[in-house]
Amino acid sequence: MEEERDHNASESSLPSLSKQLESLTLGGSTVDVPVVDLSVSDEDFLRREVVKASEEWGVFQVVNHGIPTELMRQLQMVGTQFFELPDAEKETVAKEEDFEGYKKNYLGGINNWDEHLFHRLSPPSIINYKYWPKNPPQYREVTEEYTKHMKRLTEKILGWLSEGLGLQREAFTQSIGGDTAEYVLRVNFYPPTQDTELVIGAAAHSDMGAIALLIPNEVPGLQAFKDEQWLDLDYIDSAVVVIIGDQLMRMTNGRLKNVLHRAKSDKDKLRISWPVFVAPRADMSVGPLPEFTGDENPPKFETLIYNDYIDQKIRGWALEDLPVY
Ligand code: SIN
Ligand code: FE2
Repeated sequence: MEEERDHNASESSLPSLSKQLESLTLGGSTVDVPVVDLSVSDEDFLRREVVKASEEWGVFQVVNHGIPTELMRQLQMVGTQFFELPDAEKETVAKEEDFEGYKKNYLGGINNWDEHLFHRLSPPSIINYKYWPKNPPQYREVTEEYTKHMKRLTEKILGWLSEGLGLQREAFTQSIGGDTAEYVLRVNFYPPTQDTELVIGAAAHSDMGAIALLIPNEVPGLQAFKDEQWLDLDYIDSAVVVIIGDQLMRMTNGRLKNVLHRAKSDKDKLRISWPVFVAPRADMSVGPLPEFTGDENPPKFETLIYNDYIDQKIRGWALEDLPVY
């Protein structure tokens, strides 16, 4: 049997550039992406729901997740205030060689078209506060508080996924390094553009980490690729969007879906989103867990040090002429 390499798999799942353009002009249709209400006390039900959504869609929204609405508003406020500052002020946290920092990226065409701010959130030992805005002054306090909720919610969802797939509750959390797993915030700022047929805020991709938790502002634009078409995600007030990334697909030997997604800019309104990416510690080996492989089910993916996986994926993107970030 031919060995299927993970980066090949993600490359082949990428629609051609012409197909992406074609579907942009046609626009997405709305099919309901699953919504899971976490206030339900039946944990068996929650395990089944998150597993089903992660297998079939690779993306779902959660409501009643326990993150105070006021804290979500504050996070959105400090981010928005940062982007409203003059360029010179934003440049004080500009990106250097690594990925962290502020960057303006108006390339146009099929490429990403946005301004963004990227920085690590956890573990504390790898945080570079020089990339955290000093202005507005509440930025750090609000972001640190939000990080605690991101960790709690991520570990809860990973726990339900693990147990729902027959593993110990801690299995996925431990496989990405437990408390040393890396949490990174990206604030995406997509100004309105009249040229929405040609400009994509974020080009089609799957996330390279394990899982991401995202909150958008009220302007829709996030789309998921399912059953050969692009589908719009409805905006649900105070919901958190959960996106399954490459490493959960690889660890489960393809059972969970690393959803292909993209973000469109709006014609008239400013769109902003706040994804938090959760990834294995860079030096960890990640590949199919033994519980998901066997004689009947050989490993479909190579076990790789996460850092090497990132390099391979970025090289793949460069070959596809897609933006690197
Ligand atoms: C992303 O997937 O990186 C961004 C998605 C969004 O802006 O909604
Ligand atoms: Fe993404």
